[in-house]
Amino acid sequence: MCGIVAYIGKKQAFPIVLKGLKRLEYRGYDSAGVALLNNGSLNIYKRSGKVSNLEGFALKSDVEGNAGIGHTRWATHGAPNDVNAHPHFSNDGTLALIHNGIIENYDILKKDLTSKGYTFKSETDTEVLVHLIDDIRKNENVWFGEALRRALHHVVGAYAIVVISKDEPNKLVAARKSSPLVVGIGNEGDFYLASDATPIVEYTKNVVYLEDEEIAVIDLAEGLRIYNIGDQEKTPYVQQLELELAALEKGGYEHFMIKEINEQPRSIQDCFRGRLNATEGWVSLGGIREYEQKMINANRMIIVACGTSWHAGLVGEYLIEDLARINVEVEYASEFRYRNPIITENDIVIAISQSGETADTLAALELAKSKGATILGICNVVGSSISRITDAGSYTHAGPEIGVASTKAFTAQVTILTLMALSLGHKKGMINDSKFHTLLAELEAIPDKVKTVLESNKAIEKIAEEYKNASNALYLGRGSSFPVALEGALKLKEISYIHAEGYPAAEMKHGPIALIDENMPVFVIATHGNSYEKVVSNIQEVKARKGKIVAIVTQGDKHVKELADHIIEIPETDEFLVPLLATIPFQLLSYHIAVMRGCNVDQPRNLAKSVTVE
Ligand code: M6R
Repeated sequence: MCGIVAYIGKKQAFPIVLKGLKRLEYRGYDSAGVALLNNGSLNIYKRSGKVSNLEGFALKSDVEGNAGIGHTRWATHGAPNDVNAHPHFSNDGTLALIHNGIIENYDILKKDLTSKGYTFKSETDTEVLVHLIDDIRKNENVWFGEALRRALHHVVGAYAIVVISKDEPNKLVAARKSSPLVVGIGNEGDFYLASDATPIVEYTKNVVYLEDEEIAVIDLAEGLRIYNIGDQEKTPYVQQLELELAALEKGGYEHFMIKEINEQPRSIQDCFRGRLNATEGWVSLGGIREYEQKMINANRMIIVACGTSWHAGLVGEYLIEDLARINVEVEYASEFRYRNPIITENDIVIAISQSGETADTLAALELAKSKGATILGICNVVGSSISRITDAGSYTHAGPEIGVASTKAFTAQVTILTLMALSLGHKKGMINDSKFHTLLAELEAIPDKVKTVLESNKAIEKIAEEYKNASNALYLGRGSSFPVALEGALKLKEISYIHAEGYPAAEMKHGPIALIDENMPVFVIATHGNSYEKVVSNIQEVKARKGKIVAIVTQGDKHVKELADHIIEIPETDEFLVPLLATIPFQLLSYHIAVMRGCNVDQPRNLAKSVTVE
């Protein structure tokens, strides 16, 4: 978590850094700060709360300077207040530093530095870094970039760091390990640094993604140099950004979340563009093509992910097991990495991650790799850490997802998993040509059907009005609609702070049914398919206990309509594809309830978009 931005060049740094921080605010928004170098003085402005608080505060001063570093924080160590906000500076005021990550051995380092006379102003783990660099700089008589490199040998943990020094105003030094960092090479001999490319794309498309344990030394006279922490120089690999600026704006919508919900017809289409042709009858995921036979022959596939991406993985399990008859396990990355799992060279481990930066997912992959498994990735963010450490993978191409609540990334992940299941199933001979063609055609029709679901927005808003004051909610589904129920519950709780749980519908009688009374809304996926009758029975059980039912049904359904308090119709589709449609009414419902409750939809409390700490 936390977002970092820096600039050095001829332009004024403050507006660039501030705008960048606003773009990165999804990564953390409890406090923010900037440090600016101006004519030999290093000025630091910090404020708790959002970047707009910092802006109001800093603009009371001159905020001049052609070099600056900025940070938006998601607190790990120390409360979100002005003092704990970054940048942190050395006791003599020469160095300022920003950091994203966690310094695990900060306690030992802090004791050591305190005994040497350094005073700590904040409760953060980060502050040890600036004092450590300062200590090495002075005692070993080296410049601050070299001091940073030497300091990293003492540091255990994750970091993306940028340091600025008033003694060397033409230089910025940055380093990364397990937290992302991108260098933008400007067109006017200037340079940008940021946690992701969104603050950079407006100024340049030429970027270098730093690798783990790499250090970027930016010198306005000599340009960009990259070293590893062993001090060997490396050739920077300059990539071209494909990101468009317009994708980072709200485009007339009130919130990013509702914009992203409405983008789904296009994002799903973009996801299968060039990968699916129903008329010609083929599906092809180019990124993993050379691994398909290995997947078919694998002992099993293990999907590792967190949060919404984990729910997508569960949908994938239903699809791949059913269509391709390959054994799939879905694991919370955070549990997998610590429970000494049995992994062999015949296993395929697939990470699913919107950001491609989730610390637990990354660590789970590293573990699997160390045991010889083939590791694949399904990521949205191009160039992200997960996409770079995997053997191969598929991008979801959903476009930037800014709202903290994941929406279009989920449907894109499910789309990739559907393509994967179809491709493997067909190649393995588990699906005959006729079924294959039918499913391809159905999948190709999904974007239009999503448009139809989105037309229910007004009706869903009315339903939201009725349940906006609920304290609890249950979500039920069966088969591949069970993960949709989990996802519906997660969406509601994370943005509206209503307690919600998802269950497989049949599990309700094993406990949750005790909660049902006239105040309990139960959201059920009751679409046509194998378990339709059974779900109808579950609905009756809820109604017998005076619970309120909001049911997602197949267009034209009469039976559930008679039982439910409200229905939301979705177009008929193959049962395998229902998750792609059924999830959308739940996204809209959560969105409207959160707006009605006055919640900050795009930046819910305590959350961050990218969880780069464990
Ligand atoms: O970037 P990732 O997909 O790895 O993120 C995983 C979770 O942190 C994420 O899905 C989280 O649960 C979302 N806020 C859910 O809306």
